[in-house]
Amino acid sequence: MNRSSLLKIVLILLSCAGLSAGPAAAQSPQTHQHSFGGAEQWAQIFDDPKRDAWQKPHEVIQALALKPDAVIADIGSGTGYFSARFANMVPKGRVYGVDTEPDMVKYLAERAKREGLKNITAVTGAPGDARLPEKADLIIMVDVFHHIADRARYLKKLQGSLKPGGRLAIIDFRMDSPDGPPKSARITPDRVKTELKGAGYALIQEHAFLPNQYFLIFQPAKL
Ligand SMILES: C[S@@+](CC[C@H](N)C(=O)[O-])C[C@H]1O[C@@H](n2cnc3c(N)ncnc32)[C@H](O)[C@@H]1O
Repeated sequence: MNRSSLLKIVLILLSCAGLSAGPAAAQSPQTHQHSFGGAEQWAQIFDDPKRDAWQKPHEVIQALALKPDAVIADIGSGTGYFSARFANMVPKGRVYGVDTEPDMVKYLAERAKREGLKNITAVTGAPGDARLPEKADLIIMVDVFHHIADRARYLKKLQGSLKPGGRLAIIDFRMDSPDGPPKSARITPDRVKTELKGAGYALIQEHAFLPNQYFLIFQPAKL
């Protein structure tokens, strides 16, 4: 077994063991919480080039049909797998990479500097508030939804961070995916749709080209 496979197994075991970030006051059902400290190590998994085969980042970004000056908020940006790609694809736009884990925020800020991505801002979010500095055309959460505690409140609050016509995209692991968090932590797309509806959003698009994940796009529902 090579070093990277061993590291992957260790991180998955730690993740399953639920390295505690402490339960939030109001938890949504199926909230999966553990530490994302040690960004350098997580980067070996999140930014593993093999991920591209199933994550299809280029296709995801193409499907989002972004304006060249779009403001994008990548919530739970981690090591910047998507933030860096968004920043390259919309050089006239701005990307806010939001994470609650200080080490991830530091890592993304350093990555943006290293890669000359001046349009990325790394933001320290709170578990219940993305703390976005401006309203966004697109808010995206990739493999993050199941980590958010009290999602009903979080999602309602997030509506205030969308520009008129702004969209919220959610990508997360399907139950049958060979990759991803433990099955007990996964949230079905039907459940996501129900929770989003309850928080005042309407589903406007659903893409089926990702082999392991669902890809749903919402907008605030018209009253
Ligand atoms: C599985 S990683 C996904 C990283 C990245 N989106 C990707 O696709 O590579 C989940 C990330 O969400 C972050 N996170 C967890 N809860 C969060 C919250 N309430 N707000 C913002 N980020 C959160 C974690 O710290 C972690 O970096």
